[in-house]
Amino acid sequence: MHTEERTFIAVKPDGVQRGLIGEIVKRFEQKGYKVIGLKMLQVTDEQAKAHYAEHEGKPFYPRLIKYIQSGPIVAMVIQGYNAVAGARHIMGSTNPDTAEVGTIRADFAQVMEYNIVHGSDSVASAEREIKIYFNDNELFTEGKCMSELVIESLDAEV
Ligand SMILES: Nc1ncnc2c1ncn2[C@@H]1O[C@H](COP(=O)(O)OP(=O)(O)O)[C@@H](O)[C@H]1O
Ligand SMILES: [Mg+2]
Repeated sequence: MHTEERTFIAVKPDGVQRGLIGEIVKRFEQKGYKVIGLKMLQVTDEQAKAHYAEHEGKPFYPRLIKYIQSGPIVAMVIQGYNAVAGARHIMGSTNPDTAEVGTIRADFAQVMEYNIVHGSDSVASAEREIKIYFNDNELFTEGKCMSELVIESLDAEV
């Protein structure tokens, strides 16, 4: 049986500062993924270190931690079939210079260090990263679809 996946996406501080929040959210929504959580926040030291733990010790790590805290981010959780790999495909590879044209990073960024968007690289990473930024009660999976609501509204008018 096929199931939907959840993944953690962030518009990084440079994306927020450049006014690209809507553009980035749009790209995931137009694919058909559901946004089930979304907020703007200032990343704390604790969150930054937890998020990028796998990169600790690498030459770019100190600048990465500084970058992710250089302004607010827009954090979101999106859900859909194959959402983890699908979202990475929409984002493009880490280096915007060689990312496929049409991806977010190729279209809006120039260098690896400032690549405007984050997306989890596996289902396990997604579960881990979602917990760093969201409580369960901040994720909204319930809700009637619009067509049901329209019928309900019309029926209510009899
Ligand atoms: N060699 C590098 N130089 C500068 N920044 C880097 C480098 N490698 C990675 N980064 C930064 O660290 C982030 C996390 O790296 P990584 O997990 O490898 O990429 P991705 O974000 O595509 O999953 C990248 O998105 C980028 O902002
Ligand atoms: Mg990564």
